[in-house]
Amino acid sequence: MLKTTKYLAFAIVVFFACSPPEVEKEPKVGPIVDNAMVVSAMEEASAIGVQIMEKGGNAFDAMMATEMALAVCYPFAGNLGGGGFMVYRMADGTIGSLDYREKAPGAADRDMYLDEEGNIIPGLSTKGALASGIPGTVAGVFEAQARFGKLDPKEIFEPVIALAEKGWAVRKRQADSFERLKQTFIEVNGPNTFYSTAYPEGEILKMPILAETLKRIAENGRDEFYKGQTAEMLVSHMDSIGGIFTMEDLENYEAVWRDPIVFNYNGHKVISMAPPSSGGVTIGQILQMMEPYSVGEMEYHSAEHIQLMVEAERRAYADRNFYLGDPDFVDIPIEQLLDEAYLKDRMSTFTPNKATKSEDIAKGEVMYAESMETTHYSIVDADGNAVAVTTTLNGAYGSKVFIDDLGFFMNNEMDDFSSKAGEPNMFGLIGAEANSIQPGKRMLSSMTPTIVEKDGKLKMVVGTPGGSTIITSVAQAISNVVDFGMGMHEAVESPRFHHQWLPDRVIFEPGAFDSTLIQTMQSNGYIISEEYSRIIGYVDAILVLPNGKLEGGADPRGNDAAIGF
Ligand code: GLY
Repeated sequence: MLKTTKYLAFAIVVFFACSPPEVEKEPKVGPIVDNAMVVSAMEEASAIGVQIMEKGGNAFDAMMATEMALAVCYPFAGNLGGGGFMVYRMADGTIGSLDYREKAPGAADRDMYLDEEGNIIPGLSTKGALASGIPGTVAGVFEAQARFGKLDPKEIFEPVIALAEKGWAVRKRQADSFERLKQTFIEVNGPNTFYSTAYPEGEILKMPILAETLKRIAENGRDEFYKGQTAEMLVSHMDSIGGIFTMEDLENYEAVWRDPIVFNYNGHKVISMAPPSSGGVTIGQILQMMEPYSVGEMEYHSAEHIQLMVEAERRAYADRNFYLGDPDFVDIPIEQLLDEAYLKDRMSTFTPNKATKSEDIAKGEVMYAESMETTHYSIVDADGNAVAVTTTLNGAYGSKVFIDDLGFFMNNEMDDFSSKAGEPNMFGLIGAEANSIQPGKRMLSSMTPTIVEKDGKLKMVVGTPGGSTIITSVAQAISNVVDFGMGMHEAVESPRFHHQWLPDRVIFEPGAFDSTLIQTMQSNGYIISEEYSRIIGYVDAILVLPNGKLEGGADPRGNDAAIGF
């Protein structure tokens, strides 16, 4: 197994830093393997996914292994108490996607986060018992593995349970967040909760209670989580802290196979997640609004290039926030939103070198909220099957409710609904009626697991956390490869920017862009924010090189790791 992480990139940076200037221009390259690869937020999770493929499992077996391992060693976003989306492309070109997004409990109500005057009660949708949707992760990984996997789930769970029992070394970033949130964990869960201790960097953190939960799930399958002892313990705990979960809510939960969003971009076929994710439709709009402007001929990260993309983003997010929601509850005009003539018309108000004002961009005339505390992983197996998965608790450690008897955090995904039309959520996204709360409805998401193919062959598997910035980060990663010919590591590492219609400002990754560029854009009417932003996510991606080998792009901004063989 080739074990390569961001340290390889770091070593290359150091090497090049000591080299003559012309060598510095060489693009940085990620780890390259012959057969199969997993890129995820944690080395332990990537390694377990690869281990399962080395034992004869395919990408779907590795998905179950990687996702469960992230639930152990990446409690920030990896989860049993959350949900996600998976997009796949089989080696024969067949494509599909699985929606295992959380659902509003049966007792949820459209005004449940409003006071008597109709104002949002701060914190109610983000912290504590009422913030969680019914989790979908266990249903999702079992559904995908049962349909396409090859191994016995018990075999897949073995290394995951061992990880929970033997522990993993706490990273600095994790230690810092445990320290920062310690009082909140105590406030929500009491003084004896598992995370009332801020485990320091380097400590080997064992999770014996989570290991027991995982053993029961391995033994009894997905029903353990939705109908069994685990379900009963979960409902009882939520009840005891003022929640509204019922056994019926859990029993009724199903993951749903959905047709992915498919569109063409500069000679490539892009396959991405359909609603209730806004990801596929919105990257489709952004990229296709850019396509007529020959992006690849522009100077990379020039004002011309960035302004074009920002204007496409502005218009796409205005549509996103108005039209998109759970397709099981609202009609979404997907075809019209991705229609070439419609998108051309949307860009008719674009003037190069002059910012359009967001107040002048309403939704288009065709007849919402997220966070970086999500996580994404990409997998390609030795047969060429590809899986892109983004999974989340929403905020960091979700609702902060930790079920001590089960060993995991609950999501705060209810905040991804629009609690009140026209009001921004925790990421500043403005929601509309299409994304209002209804019992059993799935909340709108920005998660954008995506696969790109070229000439009928797999080319790229990509996705990222980053809340509302997920969509623009994925669009940039794709454009970096397709339009600018970058390799995977280079495309992932390259500085990123973001615009989401409202608030009307361009977020630049701090210190990463040239001051002349920023001045030019400011004089063209753009409001630029270069303040520290935690929401330019960690892209984890795989590129199939022309010789068929796989190049990993594990985002050096995090502890992410690309491992393969
Ligand atoms: N909660 C993050 C998302 O679904 O986009």
